[in-house]
Amino acid sequence: MTTEEPTQTPDSYSWSQKWSYWIRDRVSVSDQAPQWSDFCKEYTEHLRSLRSLERIRPRYQSSDFLDTDTLEKIYEDSDRAFRDHGWQHNGRWNARLSDHVADLLDSAGIVSELKTLTQETIEFPHGGTYIRYFNEGERLNFHLDDFSYGEANVLICLDHFHGYSEKLSSTLFLGPSGYESHTLEKGGALAFDGCFTPHGRTPLAAGETVTLLALAFRPVSAKHIDTNNLPEPPC
Ligand SMILES: [Fe+2]
Repeated sequence: MTTEEPTQTPDSYSWSQKWSYWIRDRVSVSDQAPQWSDFCKEYTEHLRSLRSLERIRPRYQSSDFLDTDTLEKIYEDSDRAFRDHGWQHNGRWNARLSDHVADLLDSAGIVSELKTLTQETIEFPHGGTYIRYFNEGERLNFHLDDFSYGEANVLICLDHFHGYSEKLSSTLFLGPSGYESHTLEKGGALAFDGCFTPHGRTPLAAGETVTLLALAFRPVSAKHIDTNNLPEPPC
């Protein structure tokens, strides 16, 4: 595994980064439920303006997103990938998928699985990466994804080892109706529009390990977004 330091300058912040920094100036994934709730209450209207742009609504499936055999094969591929060329970025470990994983996903009917989850007709995922939270305290603070990443995302849990901790990490969404928290267990999946849904992962507990497959895909009927006319974060 190698370490990659993010390089950013304030002058080059994108729209997504402006929102990400604005949110992180006010609330953190390391805070607790009352702070997340307070943030959602205080900024309901701003979160509503983001939600109105979402091309898919956040949806959650607790288990059986892919069959056990496929999950196991992809998990083994991720294990090799992290060992061979994993890199650390934004507080988590990342690794590229092997070429044959696309075939595995195709055979497992990923398009129809995603259609069932999102209730949208979607195209075959056009991008993907493995994500692993491995060391105590690793986390992903609240952010919006850059537009280059895609129109919709799914996180599929390949493995979640709890260790000996009672308080586990979770994927969080901030929205106008409050926050949503999902610990995600093996075979569970979350679909959301990362460009307009503030999201993050709370700090990993001691002894805990989470391995996710993140895919980017496009809903066929996704509404057009005018990127020149987006709501700015409040001053
Ligand atoms: Fe993201």
